[in-house]
This record gives sequence, structure tokens and C-alpha cells, in this order.
Amino acid sequence: MTDPQGVLAEHETEHTRDPGQLLRSLAGLKAACALYPDGHPSIDGHVENAYGQAQALIGDRPGVEIDILRGIINVDGESQQQASRIYRRVIDELAAMGIDSIHIDARVAPGEFRALGEYLADHHETERDTSESVAARLSSNGVAHISLGRILPVDSYEPGQEWPEAPEEIFDADYRESVDKARDAFEHFGRGLAPGASVIRELLEVIVGRASHSGVAMSQVLALKSYENLTYLHSVNVTLLSVRLGERIGLDELTRMALAEAALLHDVGKTRIPLEILTKSGALTDREFREIRDHPRLGAEILIGLDGLSPLSPIVALEHHIGFDGSGYPDLGSSRKPHPLSQVVSVVDIYESLTGARSYRDPVTPDKACLTLARLAGKKLNPALVRAFVSVVTFFPIGTVVRTTLDELGVVVRTFEDDTLHPTILLVSEDEPDAPTREIADLRLRGDDGRHIRQVAESLSADDFQFDVPRILRSTTV
Ligand SMILES: [Fe+2]
Ligand SMILES: [Fe+2]
Repeated sequence: MTDPQGVLAEHETEHTRDPGQLLRSLAGLKAACALYPDGHPSIDGHVENAYGQAQALIGDRPGVEIDILRGIINVDGESQQQASRIYRRVIDELAAMGIDSIHIDARVAPGEFRALGEYLADHHETERDTSESVAARLSSNGVAHISLGRILPVDSYEPGQEWPEAPEEIFDADYRESVDKARDAFEHFGRGLAPGASVIRELLEVIVGRASHSGVAMSQVLALKSYENLTYLHSVNVTLLSVRLGERIGLDELTRMALAEAALLHDVGKTRIPLEILTKSGALTDREFREIRDHPRLGAEILIGLDGLSPLSPIVALEHHIGFDGSGYPDLGSSRKPHPLSQVVSVVDIYESLTGARSYRDPVTPDKACLTLARLAGKKLNPALVRAFVSVVTFFPIGTVVRTTLDELGVVVRTFEDDTLHPTILLVSEDEPDAPTREIADLRLRGDDGRHIRQVAESLSADDFQFDVPRILRSTTV
């Protein structure tokens, strides 16, 4: 197992008064809790370590307050520039979980760190817990002396990240037509006017019949998306990916069509929720949170009232946030397992949500999104479906910008189902974006020592570079 952040590395033996060390211990604890079963010695080691780091920080004071303000660690209100640079990745990881404030009381017991680790391991980025619900969940697990929170930006002159609502360019004509048609249909839903079943059918024909066969459309859907895609766009993407997953698991054509329809309409309940709430950055109030969580029920209600749809569509709308293990919402009774098509949509939905930007967080690269799915497998998600999905999307889909272990920059141009971690890349020059080196590197190749010559060290956002990924893809044949 790769451990790029080093969070699973041997835990420190010396406890220094370093806030970054504590944050790193917490990230390690979270990773250990996500990977190992309860009672595993590795978890004990991380608990002990986090507890020791916290005690070292607290010293003989009543407690410690660690806040991260725009990427800078503050301990009891004092900023720690150096630690902030060293522990950037851990800070980012905690921020992605919606945590930028950790307060620990001196009376904390080691067991509270264990419960905290379990909470963090369970928690994933698509869940937006309010600070009230975090506190409630922690205290119900016996954590009384640690509080986690999301802090509002203190500098009100600097607005939060605002992402565009749609991609600047859609490269595939069928995909563009799907998105345009979906926007119209969802606008109708938003105004309380249901589009007819024939409009939905026509839209599905474009998505399933044409766009889902386009590699260009799929690469755009799969890649990291630096825009906050609104419901209609998210729905088209979820449909495209669901159809692919449906093919992979061998669903027949009729079932695939039912799946496509259900996927397209799974979030239709969101058209009843004010846009300000859906795209709000910062913490949601309890009422707003409840309102968002009502979208599955609202969606089912809308779809039940429509003639000519598959009877499965309202079921999937109702169940798509219910986990394989019965967790999630709405609560329909713990013994109920979601319908298999709901389980398919859940896997795709989480991936699609993570890889898109949100007003409250940056987009997550495809490989990290796949790791999140892997962590949720067996709990919230059906493990067989996660495995099938990861083989469909691969960790580094075509078009992903990556840096290799030889510190080269490249764009993925070919992927392999049986080796999703080692795609073929076209090397590109960071300084001369218009002049790709034309050198193709097959990451599956191994040297004389049997080790891979180069591997993907990290995937990056194409927006950080000037080169034109679609143009590179169009001009490359592998
Ligand atoms: Fe949803
Ligand atoms: Fe969704």
C-alpha cells in the first residue's frame, strides 16, 4: 500500500511541542482507523502517539487550541509559519474533512483519541456535518474533551473560493447536447413543471446512445473538475458513469436504461432546495442541513407523480444516500438494504461529487477520490461495485496531469484495466507548454532491478499549468 503522506509511517517516539506533529498524528490515527479493524495494535500506537503529542503541547496549561486560518497553523492564537509549511499536506487533508479547528482540554483521556480517530475515518468529504452535529456525534462516542470545528474566515474582506458553475468548454458535441438538454429539463423541475417522460427519454437517448461512447466526454467527466457543477451537470455525469459501471457489471440493456433514468433523476429533489443553500460556503445551519437532507424524499415524491417513468427511479432517488450498511439518510429502518441500482448510483455519486469543486472545498483528484471509495467499501458502499467502478474509471483517467517519481510532468494518454496504477503518459515540459516533448512513457515498464522505472508521484490540477490537455489528447495516438 502506498502511503504518500507518510501518515502511516512509524509513529514518533519523541513528543515535541510541535502542533504539526499532533496534526500529523491525528491524520495517521485516522488512516489507521480506516484501514485496520478495532483493537489492531497499529491503532493503539497512533492513539498513544496522538495522546502524547497533545500532552506535550498542553504542558501544564488547561488545554490547547489549534486553529488553521487560511493554511496557517495557530496555536492558542499564535501563528506558526514554519510548521504550516512543513505540514501543508496534513493541513490540506484535515481541511478536506472540513476540520480547521481542534481544541483539546487537558483532561482528555487516550480513549477519546481512539473515538476521534474512528469518527474521522468514518467521515468523508461529501458529508457536511454542522459543528453541532459533529459535537453531538463526538460526545455520543464519549469524546468530551476534544472539539472539532470549521472556522469561518476571520478576514471578511477575502471572500471564500468561488468556482464557476460549469466547465468553460465542453469538448464533445453529444456531451454538450446532453448538458444543454438536462439544463432545460431541470429548469422545468425547478419551476415545479415536470418535463414530459418523452423529454426525459430523448435526453437519455443522447446520453446513453451517443455521449457514453465518447472517450472525450468520459475523460472530461472523470477528471478533476475546477467548477462547481450544478445539479443538471452532476446528473448527466452520474448518468454517464453509471452506464459505464452498469456495462461493466453485465447489466442487460433494459436494466441499463432503467439505471440511466434513475441516475439522471436521482438528485431531482434538489431542484426544490434554494440554490443559496446548495452552494453555500461555510457552515450550514441545522435547518439548512435538514433541508438538504430532505432532497431524496422530495425527489421520490416528484418522480412518483410523473407518468411514464420506470418504477425504479423514485426508489433510487429515495435511497441514493442510504449506505450499503444502512447508514445515511433518510432513515428507512436499519434492516433495509438499498436496491442494487441505488447502490450503483451511490458509488458513482460520491466519486462525481468529490472530483468536482465545491464552494467549501477544492476538487479532489481522481486517484484520491478512488481511495475514498475504497475506504467506504464494505461500509457505506458495496465493495464489489467499488472494485468494478475503480476498474472503469482507473486511478488516473485519460487526461490526468501527473508528476512522476523522476520529477517529470505528463498527461495520461492511455490506461490499462489490469494495471490501473500504471498508465501511459505523454511527457510535457512545464516551461514550454505548447511544445510537448512527444516522448511517451509507459509506466508499466520495469528496470533491471524489477522495479518500475517511474511511477505516478502525484496527480495535479491541469489548471495550474498552461498547457491545453484536450489539444494534447487530440494530437496523440498511442
Ligand atoms: Fe443526492
Ligand atoms: Fe448526487
